[in-house]
Amino acid sequence: MLTLFDSTENFLLTSLQLMSALFIFVIGLAALWGVYAFIVDSTQKTQAIRRNYPVIGRFRALFERLGEFFRQYFFAMDREELPFNRAQRNWVYRAAKDVDNTVAFGSTRNLTVPGQVIFVNCPFPTLGEDAVPPQPLTIGPFARQPYTIAGLFHISGMSYGAISKPALEALASGAAKAGCWLNTGEGGLTRYHLERGTDLVFQIGTAKYGVRDSAGNLSDERLQAVAAHPQVRMFEIKLSQGAKPGKGGILPAAKVTPEIAEIRGIPVGVDSISPNRHPDVGNTAELLDLIERVRRVTGKPVGFKVVLGAYGWLDELLGMVHARGVASAPDFITVDSADGGTGAAPMPLMDDMGLPLRVSLPMLVDKLNEYGLRERIRVIASGKLITPADVAWALCIGADFITSARGFMFALGCIQALQCNKNTCPTGITTHQRKFQRGLHAPTKAVRVAAYVQNLSKEVGIIAHSCGVRSPRELRRFHAHLVQADGRTIGLDQFYPESERQIVAALSWPQTWPRDQMGVAQGSEDRLRPSPLGPLRGPSQRDLIIQPATGDIFP
Ligand SMILES: Cc1cc2nc3c(=O)[nH]c(=O)nc-3n(C[C@H](O)[C@H](O)[C@H](O)COP(=O)(O)O)c2cc1C
Repeated sequence: MLTLFDSTENFLLTSLQLMSALFIFVIGLAALWGVYAFIVDSTQKTQAIRRNYPVIGRFRALFERLGEFFRQYFFAMDREELPFNRAQRNWVYRAAKDVDNTVAFGSTRNLTVPGQVIFVNCPFPTLGEDAVPPQPLTIGPFARQPYTIAGLFHISGMSYGAISKPALEALASGAAKAGCWLNTGEGGLTRYHLERGTDLVFQIGTAKYGVRDSAGNLSDERLQAVAAHPQVRMFEIKLSQGAKPGKGGILPAAKVTPEIAEIRGIPVGVDSISPNRHPDVGNTAELLDLIERVRRVTGKPVGFKVVLGAYGWLDELLGMVHARGVASAPDFITVDSADGGTGAAPMPLMDDMGLPLRVSLPMLVDKLNEYGLRERIRVIASGKLITPADVAWALCIGADFITSARGFMFALGCIQALQCNKNTCPTGITTHQRKFQRGLHAPTKAVRVAAYVQNLSKEVGIIAHSCGVRSPRELRRFHAHLVQADGRTIGLDQFYPESERQIVAALSWPQTWPRDQMGVAQGSEDRLRPSPLGPLRGPSQRDLIIQPATGDIFP
């Protein structure tokens, strides 16, 4: 009679025999595959490495791919990675989670690197009780429905298509909670934008998704329909974006789902490629015409987004504004940095085209001052401005508002996997695959989006108070220094000296400049001059006159 011990022993022995047979079978299979791969590799003609190193050459691609993750998690130092290093990402993650964001022991930032910005503190910082929140500013005083908002930090354009439904829902809810605006990006308006009562900036991309007629031209009727939504506060004409100046939006075929195809009016599963410029805007006059048309049809402020390159162009634009009259001006200019982000772009444009914000933002602000249009045209800056210091720098230079795309992606949980163009985003932000979207719980992330805006604004305030001003909008260029190659620092006011020339319009400006609507920030009267012809800068200035008929400028 078999005992319990014997039957257990038999079972173990049989299992062991089975496992060893399986092991031999797997090894045999692997050896067979090795022989097959060796023959295939050494005879194929397309890859030199596999032909010269059969079988092991195959692992190169795998290691390259794994290397991305190993470097990020094990080898990269806190301040090393691009586009955003771990210190920057962690600041956003912690701000978004609303957990303690203080650091200990000492700075890991190397303060001797040329180009670093250091703020200069005041011996007598602003007391908490004297601090004031950012003052509201009005955009588009000549539009039928100007837009007034106090917040400094807003969400930059990312189309529905480039980002997923839960990501968009979280951004829209978070923006509504935080009181900031959400830019639709160039993919049109969806119910996910509208459902949460968020302030929206509708972007008109070069394909005019959402506002085009059946022939692809801008439709006044569609514009009116979009403007009829009270949530839509402004319109932004996209001329270019930092990551790909001279190229329109690209939505890879894998991301063109039936829903997105329907919203855009394009075929499912085919690359969505926008024209590389607005077909109807081939020169400055046509740009001003388009701005005027959209403003007239919608009644809302209209501006444009651009990455500056050939900046001599600003003289032509602002000269023409003078020639046509101040009401014709764009209500805002969004200047995007050459190192801005994107869902997909050709590498030469991403790496090598356009001016970075450090060059273009001071240039734009100075040009607006020269032309006496600084108060009329609001400046929105974007491009890697994701931490309080980045935002404070842009305010020092003269930006009115700051927008970010990737900062908000981090708030949603982005791990910088660099897969936005592949529909495989592991955090569900830039993919339409349900299995990845599952991880992105929109209500939870909406709270994080709002906390990010609130904590960032709070810490920009901390910088401002340390500099001795009451509110972030009072920051000026002399509040920050730039580290130079010899280790010394130079004030931003000296590094980017304001232009000495002042353009004087030969036109009469409206007597009733709607200053009551302009929301001039406390303490910023020096920047926001009451009249373009008001007190000029002193004896060294050189006045230039604009010829009203042509917009030409002459001394
Ligand atoms: C996923 C993604 C999608 C974007 N889509 C648009 C778009 O539709 N229109 C646009 O003007 N810019 C688009 N951008 C650019 C951003 O609006 C922004 O100008 C740029 O990323 C710089 O800001 P950041 O450095 O804070 O990301 C996109 C950026 C990302 C990362």
